[in-house]
Amino acid sequence: NWNMKNFIEDQVELMRRQVGDRKVLLALSGGVDSSVVAALLLKAIGNQLVCVHVNHGLMRKNESESVVEVFKNQLHANLIYVDAVERFLGKLENVSDPEQKRKIIGSEFIRVFEEEARKLDGIDFLGQGTIYPDIIESGTKTAKMVKSHHNVGGLPEDLKFELVEPLKQLFKDEVRACGVELGLPHSMVYRQPFPGPGLGVRCLGAITRDRLEAVRESDAILRDEFEKAGLDQKVWQYFTVVPNFKSVGVKHNARSFEYMVIIRAINTIDAMSASVEQVPWDVLLKITDRILDEVENVNRVCYDLSPKPPATIEFE
Ligand code: XMP
Repeated sequence: NWNMKNFIEDQVELMRRQVGDRKVLLALSGGVDSSVVAALLLKAIGNQLVCVHVNHGLMRKNESESVVEVFKNQLHANLIYVDAVERFLGKLENVSDPEQKRKIIGSEFIRVFEEEARKLDGIDFLGQGTIYPDIIESGTKTAKMVKSHHNVGGLPEDLKFELVEPLKQLFKDEVRACGVELGLPHSMVYRQPFPGPGLGVRCLGAITRDRLEAVRESDAILRDEFEKAGLDQKVWQYFTVVPNFKSVGVKHNARSFEYMVIIRAINTIDAMSASVEQVPWDVLLKITDRILDEVENVNRVCYDLSPKPPATIEFE
């Protein structure tokens, strides 16, 4: 007679036994897995949990704010918020190769996390949002990237902690059910997949601040309109991309030379192949109007019709 309430009670008991009166450190990105682990650990050991949220400047609009709001203000977690925006954008300046961008974001993340860990005394454990598919899928490139970024592997030898991984037997839908049972907000538990390098791989080529803001603002508009149209419950992944070239337009009766926003909305089962969502025309036009009206430095909006393969879901 297994249900989520029993699972939570069992895990709380197990974690209390494992941790005793010692402390657990957790990298809290705000993704589904780390959020549910945080809520579960909080229930088990309260302020013996120390969460670190690193804002790398590549989060979606209001995402870091909502992590702070939910975990610090509402759940009263011991949360350290690290504003690393300038540091990440500095390291990424003039870097245009996608894999290089990913490497920098991943290794800088570990470095920031390591620095925070060193400031803290008496931490013995590291909480991690490892779920069952992370353990069974190890072959594909995507799975490896997801794991290497999301899990804080790669910490130096003298900072090796004992792991606390309460979700490692659960599938994604069970992790979500656990989050709901623990009272986390729907928007956090049903968040669409978001790559570790965040908006960094959607601001194509070398990241510039103007284009990064255009990605962030257009993504916020897209999400808002998808929610209003009920598409957020239906579409697997939807986001915007801003390429690193400009096109000609007219604005206020004058020639403009500005960036474009590309909209992508896809459905997939396993991210290995994907098909394009047939977003209703009126929804696309509404989104286009709002982007052209509200987002600076943009004069054109396109919709990507490519399936995977031959395209990938992300652009880089
Ligand atoms: P592609 O673009 O390869 O993406 O079709 C497949 C899925 O993986 C996500 N993705 C990533 N996730 N770190 C991640 O955590 C990454 O570097 C990364 N690259 C792609 C992508 O969003 C899609 O869901």
